[in-house]
Amino acid sequence: MSSSPLKVAVTGAAGQIGYSLLFRLASGALAADRPIELRLLEITPALKALEGVVMELDDCAFPGLAGVEIGDDAEKVFDGVNLALLVGARPRGPGMERGDLLEANGAIFTTQGKALNKVAADDVRIGVTGNPANTNALIAMSNAPDIPQERFSALTRLDHNRAISQLAAKTGAPVTDITKMTIWGNHSATQYPDLFHAEVGGRNAAEVVGDQAWIENDFIPTVAKRGAAIIDARGSSSAASAASATIDAARDWLFGSAEGDWVSMAVRSDGSYGVPEGLVSSFPVTTRDGDWSIVQGLEIDDFSRGRIDASAAELAEEREAVQGLGLI
Ligand code: NAD
Ligand code: LMR
Repeated sequence: MSSSPLKVAVTGAAGQIGYSLLFRLASGALAADRPIELRLLEITPALKALEGVVMELDDCAFPGLAGVEIGDDAEKVFDGVNLALLVGARPRGPGMERGDLLEANGAIFTTQGKALNKVAADDVRIGVTGNPANTNALIAMSNAPDIPQERFSALTRLDHNRAISQLAAKTGAPVTDITKMTIWGNHSATQYPDLFHAEVGGRNAAEVVGDQAWIENDFIPTVAKRGAAIIDARGSSSAASAASATIDAARDWLFGSAEGDWVSMAVRSDGSYGVPEGLVSSFPVTTRDGDWSIVQGLEIDDFSRGRIDASAAELAEEREAVQGLGLI
């Protein structure tokens, strides 16, 4: 085990996602051969509940957990962190769209962006899970001018994993046979899960499925509206699966995506695939040593073009809305 602990901040640590995420992080799901120090941020009224969670972490006696600090002051909690997982935000309830959260949650990410800018480690990577995740990442990035913009990403890995699972169920293939899945755009109902570049056992997924109606009327809406379906069924939003995807995304970012495959991450657009520059939009990316690069050269047909453009247009509207609110 390398001796220096990876300092990982988690915001909203007393929340639902936190209750799964912290235990997975502490048990080695992110970095099996490196100890982890957890820095947990909450709002003041939630600190007592967070103390209870820390008691439980203690009681697990995780060998790789080098320490836990908690607090309600972002500048103290983020001091020297190598990875910040920004989860804390109000989740949407039944009947709400993610756009409803822009104002309620946007302000959180200005403060946290500024604090990270001031005190995070030079190598910090910042993953945003709290919704609306893409635009929250844009807000945090815009408020952290000294941190390179490619260090920010928003979570679309849950959508990516959902898409893999749906395709596996349809084709009967194990999830391990499914590669090159892509989620394009926003982590919202406009996202575009793309089967035209995905593969099942090395064969083109759309051809293996051979059913355009299923892709359009079943697969895409099922993946895009899965968050709402879970809210409907559970009465609260996805938590364990969101925690799992948050770890998948961070692990691949820090330690590299699998050879011959790619993952979906929402990152700052450089204009690739016609997505307006500066939006935090999901792309197919490969990752290596803490850096990502957008997979280039994929052919985009008219169907995919329309879907990618629609999600990018929603992100542009969200950007305008938070500009109007003075958050960026
Ligand atoms: P939750 O309400 O159970 O927990 C959120 C926690 O954040 C609460 O404990 C709250 O006190 C805390 N919090 C609020 N403001 C804070 C601040 N300024 N600083 C630190 N902590 C703060 O919610 P949850 O179910 O854990 O979900 C958290 C967020 O993740 C929500 O926005 C939800 O919509 C989002 N989410 C995203 C995805 C994704 O795929 N991107 C998936 C599921 C949920
Ligand atoms: C999800 O995708 O499960 C979360 O983003 C929750 C939501 O609001 O849909």
